[in-house]
Amino acid sequence: MRPTTPLHRPHPHESARLHVTGGALYVDELPEARNARIGLIVPAGVAHGRVVRIERSRAESAPGIDAVLLASDIPGEALIGPIAHDEPVLAGDEVRYAGQPIALIVGESLEACRDAAGLMRFEIEELPATLSIAAAIAEESFFGDPHIIRRGDVEAALESAQTRVEGELSTPAQDHFYLETQAALALPLEAGGWQIFSSSQNPTEVQQLVARTLGVGRHRVVCDVPRMGGAFGGKESQGALFACLAAIGAARIGRPVKLRLTRREDMAMTGPRHPFWSTYEAGFDRDGLIQAFKVATYADGGFSLDLSPAILSRALFHLDNSYYIPTLRFEGRICRTHKPSTTAFRGFGGPQGMAVIEDAINRFAERTGRDPTSVRVRNFYGEAPRDRAPYHQRIPEPRLSRIHSELSADAEVESRASEIAVFNAGSLHVKRALAFQPVKFGIAFTNRILNQAGALVHVYRDGTVQVNHGGTEMGQGLHTKMQVVCADELGIPLDNVRVMRTSTGKVPNTTPTAASSGSDLNGQAIADACAKLRARLGPVAAGMMGRACDEDLCFEGDRIATTDAERSVPFHEVAMQAWLERVSLSATGYYATPGISYDIEAGRGCPFFYFAYGGAFVEVALDGRTGRHRLLRVDILHDVGNSLVPSIDRGQIEGGFLQGVGWLTCEERIESPDGRVVTLGPSTYKIPAAGDAPRELRIRLLDRAGESRTIGGSKAVGEPPFMLALGVVTALRQAVAAFDGRTASEVELRLPATPESLLRAIETRAG
Ligand code: MTE
Ligand code: HPA
Ligand code: MOS
Repeated sequence: MRPTTPLHRPHPHESARLHVTGGALYVDELPEARNARIGLIVPAGVAHGRVVRIERSRAESAPGIDAVLLASDIPGEALIGPIAHDEPVLAGDEVRYAGQPIALIVGESLEACRDAAGLMRFEIEELPATLSIAAAIAEESFFGDPHIIRRGDVEAALESAQTRVEGELSTPAQDHFYLETQAALALPLEAGGWQIFSSSQNPTEVQQLVARTLGVGRHRVVCDVPRMGGAFGGKESQGALFACLAAIGAARIGRPVKLRLTRREDMAMTGPRHPFWSTYEAGFDRDGLIQAFKVATYADGGFSLDLSPAILSRALFHLDNSYYIPTLRFEGRICRTHKPSTTAFRGFGGPQGMAVIEDAINRFAERTGRDPTSVRVRNFYGEAPRDRAPYHQRIPEPRLSRIHSELSADAEVESRASEIAVFNAGSLHVKRALAFQPVKFGIAFTNRILNQAGALVHVYRDGTVQVNHGGTEMGQGLHTKMQVVCADELGIPLDNVRVMRTSTGKVPNTTPTAASSGSDLNGQAIADACAKLRARLGPVAAGMMGRACDEDLCFEGDRIATTDAERSVPFHEVAMQAWLERVSLSATGYYATPGISYDIEAGRGCPFFYFAYGGAFVEVALDGRTGRHRLLRVDILHDVGNSLVPSIDRGQIEGGFLQGVGWLTCEERIESPDGRVVTLGPSTYKIPAAGDAPRELRIRLLDRAGESRTIGGSKAVGEPPFMLALGVVTALRQAVAAFDGRTASEVELRLPATPESLLRAIETRAG
């Protein structure tokens, strides 16, 4: 490591100060937003129906109202969507979920718009609605064909297995609950141009869909993302609708229109994580090795396709989690229901897939009275032939055993296990348990095309730098990492590098910031741009030092030096000299991840560039009288390669883990029998709070873990830690079992494992 580089060192988030002082500007607070008109979306209110008549004239003439728009008022294409164009910007003839936007009211204030909304009249003929996975299966209401991955003769292998475990598992929905709800601001510019500000992970898609909806070329539209107050996948595809709505409103009235949803509106209109329902059969041999695994899984896709095919793929790609499975058959389908379209959410199907094999292992361990940790460790990927994923990609260096053994020592597992046994023997109402959870997570967009990124780096004559890249900042610290990468590449101080807000006018045709790949992709693109700048500045500096222009130079400490360190010149003097010599001080960079391919028909290929690994030991205490539990201590050892910024990575591990805990233990989305979401705020939908965090949370980054072929030897970190939370479920199951002390019997625990669910699990065993 070079002495002055900011790389691989802890730094605060580049906006930390702004976040806590209120100085950070989000879409709703931009100066451009101040004189904008306000948009209010009117939801249809029924899950499925035929639109007979809409009466808007009274609303339109209400005080302070500029316009009321319906589907027929859309100037361009009426349908949007990230893969298929199957989502109406406003419902036309048919309503397909209760929260679906059916009209847009534009006026001078939210109050005026709300009053006007009360004057709208809708005649909608209700139709039967499909509101669950079970109903969709019964009606054969699916999107597309099944995705199937297979290896060997699974029926024969199940037949000959020593122990066969069957089960079914439902994993719940999850609301993104980003602090900043969906927001967009559309400004009509001169000569048919448009400026869109959007809270989106995917500004290029916003640009594209706004252009479509307005019926103009993409060159007319620029989309900027200042920053997001959280996204978690919920703004990968679903920010676009609100940008399109703001744009059609602005097009109609010829002045800026701003939309920002209330929490209630956001929770009713946007889609959560996909609920999955899976059935499985798993065969184990006498050593506890998995011989065969057969899974049929169904994802509730909601009313439109959204990103469901990619999410289902990632779920199937993670049904193995960390374990080698010789013989298998995985089949997945997407259900079409009359619900908000489910979408990307941290892990992108991975958590739903992994939960299934973890359930199978738990049941096997419970039924046979084995130690669940040993079963997991025994089944890890390893040397050939135990190194082939179900889709046949080779798992080159599984760091699982190393993580397990180092973490066991860190977490003092042996002594704590015996303390827990002693505690449980002496405690009637509270039981403790300690569980291990490994994670392997594939890094790359499984869709090859999306694995590309661009950057644009400007050096100014005073030696300071502006960096533009295709990624968006949602709190995850991407801009901090990119600032560090750029400062390292040019050998200049961190303070002299400014990361600009994301803009499709600066870096075009970008990929969404998703799949945890933001720093992998954009970091490489920035490094490429910086390499071009070094190649241009080098000869200028050499000339200033009286050296040959092809000499290798060293960019470090805000200076450019000869490799023998005999001569050096300040970076800013070289920048000025380059300008005087008419050498360009601006460069684009580009990167495309090599080697990604997948054949969906064959169920084979290399969908991932590499794998991220992690492990957690989770200790819980469960109160059998109330069903409440506490996380007493969690130890995490995570493989982030050679961390670009360790302080940021720790934050991602903490947040990811706790968000996973929320999904599995307290966040319960409830819908009415007629398909309305009823948990529309934090009072009824419980996200984990500070008090739900583990009493002790010890996080360590795996050392000696540098990855080749990645920026700075780092690995992606955004999503993988989320799945470590599955260890909480295993621990809770063990705690439930401890209440009656019966071995060789399975626990029945419904997810999320709320106090009600845990009490039921305890009572089921007692009864
Ligand atoms: N961290 C914060 N604070 N806020 C977020 O919205 N999104 C997560 C993760 N960490 C998120 C977050 C998700 S779903 C992804 S895919 C990654 O960040 C995206 O950013 P990255 O690719 O830069 O890691
Ligand atoms: N992960 C996250 N987001 C995505 C992916 C993926 O694999 N593919 C398309 N969007
Ligand atoms: Mo993250 S679910 O890939 O936005």
